[in-house]
Amino acid sequence: MTVIRQIACRKNGKKLVMVTCYDYTFARLLDNTEIDLVLVGDSLGSVILGHENTTKVKLSDMVHHVRAVARGLTEPILCADMPFLSYHGSTDRTLTNARRLVQAGAQCVKLEGGETICPQVEILTQAGLPVIGHLGFTPQSIHSIGGAYVQGRNEQQCQQIVADARCLQNAGVTAIVLELIPAKLARQITDELTVPTIGIGAGRDCDGQVLVLYDILGCNSGFAPKFLRKYDNFSQRVNDAVQSFANEVREGQFPTDAHEYH
Ligand code: KIV
Repeated sequence: MTVIRQIACRKNGKKLVMVTCYDYTFARLLDNTEIDLVLVGDSLGSVILGHENTTKVKLSDMVHHVRAVARGLTEPILCADMPFLSYHGSTDRTLTNARRLVQAGAQCVKLEGGETICPQVEILTQAGLPVIGHLGFTPQSIHSIGGAYVQGRNEQQCQQIVADARCLQNAGVTAIVLELIPAKLARQITDELTVPTIGIGAGRDCDGQVLVLYDILGCNSGFAPKFLRKYDNFSQRVNDAVQSFANEVREGQFPTDAHEYH
């Protein structure tokens, strides 16, 4: 089945599950789970590279991480974010940049924005590349939005997000990520669209959900937004494991005879 069919046919069906991933080892681990999509998100800017937001992520960063993830994945669909300002210039530049992600292993790309980026969505989909849209809080616009705030809090914003969703659908997107919007608005968009919605901080009625892998694992104890459920306490477990290693080395308990070559 094509990537588009695999995603699109899940509208009103079994929920779509998307998780971010940035490297080969986690890609192999995720490959053993029953998720539908892996997103090499530009969230790697903060999660992996330590930037304060995603605007510093370069296309070469994305290509590097998409290649690594692609080597470890066989089943889930690999989607890659086009980074900030990599799809805002000429048509040629948008196509060239998307092609680099595809050649690195991406099967579809995700673009942030609504009406204003629909021409780019059309160009990419007409070239045969599935595109996922991204509305609501769009982290690449952090400098104009001012922070990770819930979007669609007033009627005017709601109408704009709905109009953007319709435009993206008409432009040919395969699905739309809805980030940080009221559940009621996400439900309205999900009910109206024929393409699936994938929510993050957008309530339970979306056709699917996406989370950042490191957030699911609980890698950052200081990060606890309302929309997040942590399924592990990895930061504590890493601390415990590495501290045990350090203690055992210092106490002469590791390595033992069993770890030595004779
Ligand atoms: O970059 C990212 O990880 C994302 C998801 C949070 C949807 O865009």
